[in-house]
This record gives sequence, structure tokens and C-alpha cells, in this order.
Amino acid sequence: MPEIRVITRDGDQQSIVFTPGTTLMQAITEGGIHELQALCGGVCSCATCHVFVDPAFAARLDAVSDDEDGLLSGSAHRCEQSRLSCQVRLTEQLAGLLVTIAPEDE
Ligand code: FES
Repeated sequence: MPEIRVITRDGDQQSIVFTPGTTLMQAITEGGIHELQALCGGVCSCATCHVFVDPAFAARLDAVSDDEDGLLSGSAHRCEQSRLSCQVRLTEQLAGLLVTIAPEDE
């Protein structure tokens, strides 16, 4: 099974096994990391699943949609690596992906 690597808010790095086809948000949550509120359940309307994705993997990710872009614009922590994890579909090509949980917005 492929894995991703997740850096939590306290700086710990954990490896998580994922099933291709699931979202990054699901993989992180089901992997036992409970730092993402994911309040909307993954329908791209809350931005509480914000993560930073290693730029080395950027070309393998689906493009940011207008809805995702709009929600990310509301975060004080947005940067070039920002994604909403519920909008990132995991594939075999993303094995080894390094993700950092973004700080919570106030
Ligand atoms: S869980 Fe709400 S936008 Fe991702």
C-alpha cells in the first residue's frame, strides 16, 4: 500500500498508508491525525482542511479549482504550497507525498 508523510502542527512526521482514490483529507483523518477540523465534510466550503504540499509533487496534483482558490484566499496562512486536502485525490503517483498541516486560522 502506498504511503504519504504528514508533518503535524507540533512538527512530528508520521507515515500514513492510503488507498488510491481517497482524498488527502480522508487519508490524514483515517490515518489517526485529528488536526483537520474538516467541518464541511469535504465538499469544499469550509477551508478547515488546509495543508501545505511539498512543491516537488505539485505537478502531479489536480489544478486548484476556483472554489478552492476562493476559500484559500480567506486564510492568513496561504502560500504557494497551500491546498485544501479534501480537494486532493490521492493516486499511486502521489506515494511519498510530503504534507504539512497548516496552522489554524483564528
Ligand atoms: S473539509 Fe471543508 S473545505 Fe475541505
